[in-house]
Amino acid sequence: MKGLILSGGAGTRLRPITHTSAKQLVPVANKPILFYGIEDMAAAGITEIGIITGETGPEVREAVGDGSQFGVQVTYIPQDAPLGLAHCVLIARDFLGDDDFVMYLGDNMLQQGLESFIERFEADRRRADQPTLEGAHPAPAAQILLCEVPDPQRFGVAEVDAEGHVVHLVEKPEHPPSNLALVGVYLFTAAIHEAVAAIEPSPRGELEITDAIQWLIDHGRPVRHDLLEGWWLDTGKKDPLLESNRRVLDDLESRVDGTLDEASDIDGRVVIEAGAELVNSRVRGPAIIGSGTRLVDSYVGPYTAIAADCVITDSEIENSVVLERARIEGVPRLVDSLIGRDTDVRRSGQRPTATRLMIGDHCSIDLE
Ligand code: TTP
Repeated sequence: MKGLILSGGAGTRLRPITHTSAKQLVPVANKPILFYGIEDMAAAGITEIGIITGETGPEVREAVGDGSQFGVQVTYIPQDAPLGLAHCVLIARDFLGDDDFVMYLGDNMLQQGLESFIERFEADRRRADQPTLEGAHPAPAAQILLCEVPDPQRFGVAEVDAEGHVVHLVEKPEHPPSNLALVGVYLFTAAIHEAVAAIEPSPRGELEITDAIQWLIDHGRPVRHDLLEGWWLDTGKKDPLLESNRRVLDDLESRVDGTLDEASDIDGRVVIEAGAELVNSRVRGPAIIGSGTRLVDSYVGPYTAIAADCVITDSEIENSVVLERARIEGVPRLVDSLIGRDTDVRRSGQRPTATRLMIGDHCSIDLE
């Protein structure tokens, strides 16, 4: 079994962060989102992983390298333009060969690992090899992962028959046939290659993976499904990203490798990385403070991840994700925020008392 991770795309919904960097590399609990998917594959015994990259390819390569840090071997597959999820399968043909593979959207996060998902697929295929009283049990050509959601209109939606076979898939339907949304993890046999070669681009100009799976169903190739255990988030926007951060921080194990002066204290599950320093500051977990970050006369509240080499002075911050080298000074109450790399947020006390902004395109600012 091989792995295919989709890390191209445009990332329009996380602008301005993704003007300059890949959305799959935005950190959740100080680790790039993409790394969670790679680690899940490695844990499931997958060692050959193809990564589809787009414009942000160089940055993805720099972060992931040859995969040895995860115990896997990575092959990069550049995609000229984000022409759709099925297009990714099309251009990965040489890498995939005729092997089965797990396809994983690089900006998705799942609580459950991949092991049980893969095991159930393989068990079903073994069962297909055994003749039964009811006659032949056809082997599945693909397996999708579904999750019950309250707002299926926003997702790819599956209709499943009484035997549990997937009969119909629709992208973002106005009148959803069920509340079962497609999660960004798929299992395919080599049958998918015929499907992605046969379909046409959708009205939005993309080769849709839902159309390719529908093609399999329409050509008598069984598609089985699995229901998701635990949570799943598509981190492509700020609020789901903050939610992923909360979920991951909830499982944090405390560790203090940095330094605290006598006037500082920590409370609850907190990680202070080596080289981080607290001066007259308080951190209430779950929270993580990256290496080389300094907190001075500040409070960091629950569900906050501060990346490496930040400086936070005379400020309070909660339920937020702060990227590398940000500087926050004199800000009494910063909440629900995503703050990019090398940014400055400060209260200078300059007269006239006013808000002075130097903000890039596609930013969003919510004043108190
Ligand atoms: P989407 O969220 O569908 O695409 P996107 O990242 O372009 O979306 P937006 O600009 O609106 O934020 O993609 C899911 C994942 O698949 C994401 O990690 C990007 C990746 N992807 C590719 O690698 N190639 C593609 O052609 C597409 C459409 C997505």
